[in-house]
Amino acid sequence: MGSGTLPPNAYVTLEHEHLLVLRNGDEPRDFPPHDPDRYAAAYFWEERNRWFSDVWSDVRGRRQSLPAAHGDRERSAAYPIEIPYRLINMFSVRGDTVLDPFWGTGTTTLAAMAAARASVGYELDAGLVDGFDDRLHGIEEFTADVARDRLERHREFVRDTEASFDYDATHYDTPVKTKRERDIRLYRVRDIEREAKRYRTSHEPIEG
Ligand SMILES: C[S@@+](CC[C@H](N)C(=O)[O-])C[C@H]1O[C@@H](n2cnc3c(N)ncnc32)[C@H](O)[C@@H]1O
Repeated sequence: MGSGTLPPNAYVTLEHEHLLVLRNGDEPRDFPPHDPDRYAAAYFWEERNRWFSDVWSDVRGRRQSLPAAHGDRERSAAYPIEIPYRLINMFSVRGDTVLDPFWGTGTTTLAAMAAARASVGYELDAGLVDGFDDRLHGIEEFTADVARDRLERHREFVRDTEASFDYDATHYDTPVKTKRERDIRLYRVRDIEREAKRYRTSHEPIEG
């Protein structure tokens, strides 16, 4: 800290990640009417209200240590998986391919797997890429937990709110607030096969 507890030497710490959302191509993106991949990728109404806010105060930083085996760096600079997971759900549909040009430890790919999207990345540090296999242990259960947590949080919201719900979800035993959420489908990784630096992932919808 040096004399950082005395004015005027203290400096402001950077406690926020800033996200820039840039788009190209047709705006809005064109979909066939009732495109099943788009409708399955719906989010719950209350998720929409939380996610499309300009400050996410419910996402906390994570410890950024790295096992020595994964390169020379002490810190991964990884972000919490909730950040790419939300963004992927907000701005892509089921089956899209997500590109992360600064892939690091592959958090974006884990999030894409949880959201049933394909992904591709570039990373300069080969040690980080080799470490990705370790992050895949238990991915089937992890992605099932992510999906079940969303469903459970939605059911809590239904229980705790006095608002009325005019629709029922098609695939889950729960009411939903809007017509466009009805076909929401949440997925888990069923199986994953590795071929060199490619992973072939199959998904299945969670029940409930
Ligand atoms: C902040 S880290 C990304 C961390 C990542 N989001 C995660 O969760 O692990 C940025 C990464 O970009 C990589 N990088 C920087 N310049 C690059 C380039 N020109 N091409 C590919 N990767 C690059 C760095 O090696 C570093 O791992």
